[in-house]
Amino acid sequence: MQALRRFALAALTAAPLLILGLDSTADPRATDRFQHSGRMPPESTADATTQATLFAEAPTGFDNRTNGLLRQGAAYDTLNEDNVVPDRSFNDDRFLFEEVESIADGLGPTYNAQSCAECHQNVVTGGASQIAEHRTGRLDVSGGFFESLGGSLIQSRATNAAIVERVAFEDDVRTFRISTNTLGNGFVECVANETLLAIRDAQPTEIRGTAVMVPVLEGGNAMRVGRFGWKNQHASLESFAADAYLNEMGITNPLFPDENTSSGRNVSFGTPFDPVPEPEDDGDDVQAFANFMRSTKAPSRGRITRDVQAGETLFNQVGCNGCHVSTLRTAQPGSLINGGAMRVPLALGNKIIHPYSDYLSHDIGTGDGIPVLPGPEYAATNVLIRTAPLWALRTRNRLMHDGLSFTKQEAIARHGNQAAGVRDRYGALTDQQKNLVLTFLDSL
Ligand code: HEC
Ligand code: HEC
Repeated sequence: MQALRRFALAALTAAPLLILGLDSTADPRATDRFQHSGRMPPESTADATTQATLFAEAPTGFDNRTNGLLRQGAAYDTLNEDNVVPDRSFNDDRFLFEEVESIADGLGPTYNAQSCAECHQNVVTGGASQIAEHRTGRLDVSGGFFESLGGSLIQSRATNAAIVERVAFEDDVRTFRISTNTLGNGFVECVANETLLAIRDAQPTEIRGTAVMVPVLEGGNAMRVGRFGWKNQHASLESFAADAYLNEMGITNPLFPDENTSSGRNVSFGTPFDPVPEPEDDGDDVQAFANFMRSTKAPSRGRITRDVQAGETLFNQVGCNGCHVSTLRTAQPGSLINGGAMRVPLALGNKIIHPYSDYLSHDIGTGDGIPVLPGPEYAATNVLIRTAPLWALRTRNRLMHDGLSFTKQEAIARHGNQAAGVRDRYGALTDQQKNLVLTFLDSL
C-alpha cells in the first residue's frame, strides 16, 4: 500500500540490511519505524511428522460464521454504532469491518473507499471484489523507480475537490491492483516462516520463489516472510490492517500515525482539509479488523467430481502445483509468531489449509514495474508477484493482479518466464485434458 513509499521495509532474504528508499517527503523518524530488525525468531520447532495425527482440516465456508477464534456473538442486525464493542465477538468485529467512516471519524483527506467491506465483500464480508486501485511512478534517468509524489498508490477519492490526486503525465509506469480475498488469512498468518522457506528451498531452481522479508510493525519490527498482498508486502494481519486503514481510508492509527499527502501537498490536521488530530484511531479498530479476518473460515470448495479430481492430477502433472501449492499446515497452538506479538491460538493452530499458493514471489512475466520500495537495491522486486492463492477462484471474474484477464485461459496464457515451462506443458495437453484442468479450477 502507499506507505511502502516510506517503508524501507522489505529486504529480500539474501539482501543485507539496508536503509533506503526514502523520498524527500518522508519523515525520517517515520521511515525508521519501517525497517525490519533483521531478527527472525524461530516460529516452529515441532516436527510435523510426529505431529501428523494432531492436524485437522480448517473450517471452510462462505457463510459469515466464525471459525471458532471469536465467538459468534449477538445477532448481527441487533448491532449498531452505539452498542458495538471491538473484539467482543465475530459479529462485532464484522460490524466494524463493514462500518462506513465519515470525515468526523478521520476519513481522508485522500482515500479510496469508506469501509474495508467496500472492497472485501464477495461473496461474504472479507472476500475479494472487482475494485482495483492504481499505482504509478516513473523511471529516473538511471532507470531506477521513482514514485508519484503522493506515493505509488494514487488515492482515487478525496474529501475536497481541490485535493483529489491525479496522475502526472510523466508517471508512465502504471498498473491496476485488484482487491484480494482475506477470508482464511488467519490460518495463513499462522503458517511458520520455516514452512514457507522450506517450500522455497525444495522448489526446482527454474521456478524457485523469493521470500520477501518485511517487518512486523507490532512485533518490534521483527523480520518475517511477507505473505499478504500482491507483492507480499506484509507478514501480519495487524500490520496490513493498519496500513489499509491509513492508505485506503485515510485513518491514521498508532502504527501509521502520519496522514498521507495529496500528490506531495500537506493536507493533514492543521490544514483546512483535516479536522481530526492524529491518530484518528487509537488502535482498537485496527485490532478488530485483524481479529475479524483471523476469525473467518477459509474459502470452501465447490463440488469435487471425478472430472475435478482428474483435472487436479493433470494440474500437478504439468507442474502448476510447484507454485500453486495445494496444502499448508499452520504452526502448533502456543507457537509465538509475528516477532512474538501473537501466540497461535487453538482455533488456528495445527490446521490444514488448501490455498493453492506458496506465498512466495515469482517472476512470471507479469511484474507491474513497481517495486516493493523505490531504490536500486529493490529494483528486482518490480517484476515479482505473489503466487495468487487459487482458493475462492470461482468467486472471481477478473483475474491476475491487474484484473485484466477475463478468463482462466487468458490468465494461464500470461504465465511466462519462471512459469513458461509449466505453461508450455499445459499447452501440450489435449483439449479434453485442458478442459479437465479448467473444471478443476472452477471447483476452487
Ligand atoms: C479501495 C479498496 C480497498 C479498501 C477500502 C480496503 N482494501 Fe484491503 N485490499 C485492497 C487491494 C486492492 C488489495 C491488494 C493490494 C496490493 O497488494 O497492492 C488489498 C489487500 C488486503 C489484504 C491482503 C490480503 C491478501 O492476502 O492479499 C488485507 C489483509 C486487507 N486488504 C485488509 C483490509 C482492511 C482491514 C481494510 C479496512 C481497513 C481494507 N483492506 C480496505 C483494496 C481495499
Ligand atoms: C512459477 C510459479 C507459477 C506456476 C508454475 C504457475 N503459476 Fe499460476 N500464478 C503465479 C503467479 C505469480 C500468479 C499471479 C500473477 C499476476 O497476478 O500477475 C499466478 C496466477 C494464476 C491465476 C490467476 C489467479 C487469480 O486470482 O487471478 C491462475 C488461474 C493460475 N495462476 C493458474 C495456473 C495454472 C493452471 C498453472 C499451470 C498451468 C499455473 N498457474 C502455474 C505463479 C505460478
